[in-house]
Amino acid sequence: MNRQKASFAPRLLRWFDQHGRHDLPWQHPRTAYRVWLAEIMLQQTQVGTVIPYYRRFLKKFPSLRALAAASPDAVLAQWSGLGYYARARNLHRAAQLVAIQHGGRFPRDFEGVAALPGVGRSTAGAILAQAFGQRHAILDGNVRRVLARHAGIAGWPGELKVAAELWTIAEQHLPRNRLADYTQALMDLGATVCTARKPQCPSCPMKADCVALRDGRLAELPGAKPRRARPQRRANILLISDGRRWLLERRPPAGIWGGLWCLPVIEGRWQAELAKRHGLKPGLARRLPTIRHSFSHFDLDLRPLMMTAVAATKAAEIQEAAWLTLSEALKRGLPAPVRTLLQTLK
Ligand code: ADE
Repeated sequence: MNRQKASFAPRLLRWFDQHGRHDLPWQHPRTAYRVWLAEIMLQQTQVGTVIPYYRRFLKKFPSLRALAAASPDAVLAQWSGLGYYARARNLHRAAQLVAIQHGGRFPRDFEGVAALPGVGRSTAGAILAQAFGQRHAILDGNVRRVLARHAGIAGWPGELKVAAELWTIAEQHLPRNRLADYTQALMDLGATVCTARKPQCPSCPMKADCVALRDGRLAELPGAKPRRARPQRRANILLISDGRRWLLERRPPAGIWGGLWCLPVIEGRWQAELAKRHGLKPGLARRLPTIRHSFSHFDLDLRPLMMTAVAATKAAEIQEAAWLTLSEALKRGLPAPVRTLLQTLK
């Protein structure tokens, strides 16, 4: 570790003494129960929103024993409005586990804490560092951002390899002392200075050796969740006329446009399929401009082919296909792009 890296924690602590948050309710007193409750509430909710709920909750359930003895409904009532209610159910179950398995005393070892419902690696570290000054790293969303920018770690932190790198860095930075303050400081830096948008780099204690700042990569670090390229599919959509009417089919109940009426949509070799489905041998086909339609999971390029055919008895009004005039067709339930296409024929 070079000198600047080695000074990460001292610089952060000096910054925290002047600019960090020192009057958060879970800091006074920093008991395990109070810190645990705060960390669970803060998992998906911001500090400003949490504080009034936190105070009310503690008033109602001032101790772990009180929480363990409460009814699930009473706990949920206090949580009401905070959202992500699995957190409240886990909290309550965890309190009961502590009451049974640990004699009502909050566990002090990492495995014991991490085994509680609703507590992952980062939350366990945050609790033990703040409540007991133990030397554990944290890596919540804010801290990932701080460390990815400072060390210039590319890639999406949701990926195992990227997360592993960030955990290693988080552990390397840990100071020997003041773990509670250090943990709070890292969170405060992420929440107030190294913010996702408009980071306040001039006031940052890490600006001298921040890789993202040096290289102008603040906007791209940490990396975003990769968006899967949307699959592109294409199909022929057949406009088959007998001179007066058009051939429509009812879509099968499952799949895209299930149950709607539609022009025949055929991926790949459409002549053979058309003969098979309707016993039709159409004349020369004329191609119209491709229509792109987006579904939730793929894009479909519809390639319209217009042609005439002699209406065979096989494709008279049966359950799944019909020869319809334009105005008849437009009265049926049609997919939007098919309706548009038919309207251009008017
Ligand atoms: N987010 C998670 N834990 C926090 C804490 N202790 N202070 C501020 N924000 C947090």
